[in-house]
Amino acid sequence: MRYPEDSKAVMTDLVLPSETNPLNNLFGGELLARMDRAASIAARRHSRRIVVTASVNHVAFNKAIPLGSVVTVEAKVSRAFKTSLEIVIDVWIEDRESGRRTKANDAIYTFVAVDDLGNPVPVPKIEPQTDLEKERFEGALRRKQLSLVLAGKMNPKDATELKAIFE
Ligand SMILES: CC(C)(COP(=O)(O)OP(=O)(O)OC[C@H]1O[C@@H](n2cnc3c(N)ncnc32)[C@H](O)[C@@H]1OP(=O)(O)O)[C@@H](O)C(=O)NCCC(=O)NCCS
Repeated sequence: MRYPEDSKAVMTDLVLPSETNPLNNLFGGELLARMDRAASIAARRHSRRIVVTASVNHVAFNKAIPLGSVVTVEAKVSRAFKTSLEIVIDVWIEDRESGRRTKANDAIYTFVAVDDLGNPVPVPKIEPQTDLEKERFEGALRRKQLSLVLAGKMNPKDATELKAIFE
């Protein structure tokens, strides 16, 4: 049994000119890569195995991140299933003068723990502690089923958590 906090990965870095779009804001693909790196560290800390990105379930580019920003990417395992892990990532930027942090984006990735040959292997269970961790844990099965249905890997008829939303 492990806790979400044990997996927490925090990466802080600047936005440089080579990482921006024509509006001088952080290029979306660069942010996806930063989130993928932080999420893979969180997944590895929880599972202590090789991990691979199985799916990007959700990304919200809510707020543009300007050139020169200090960007902090925080990733934590929200739920462990049999071999897969849901990772929630929060992205923050900080005001240069006040130092105040503002939430810029968030995302949800799925990683799978694998052996040396790339075959999925079981991961330890997780026990959420805080209210936010409990909320994210509760919603994770619904998001997993949605991702599997969209990927054509689950029959919608078997997606019990999704059906419960609409009934
Ligand atoms: C991810 C990968 C290991 C899954 O292999 P697979 O043959 O589909 O294995 P399984 O069907 O047993 O699925 C393994 C787990 O992944 C989950 N999974 C697979 N696809 C998923 C998806 N699209 N969304 C959410 N979960 C997914 C399954 O539900 C299962 O979870 P569980 O064991 O916790 O219940 C395999 O597809 C792979 O190696 N992909 C390439 C990964 C990679 O290279 N990533 C970097 C991209 S550049």
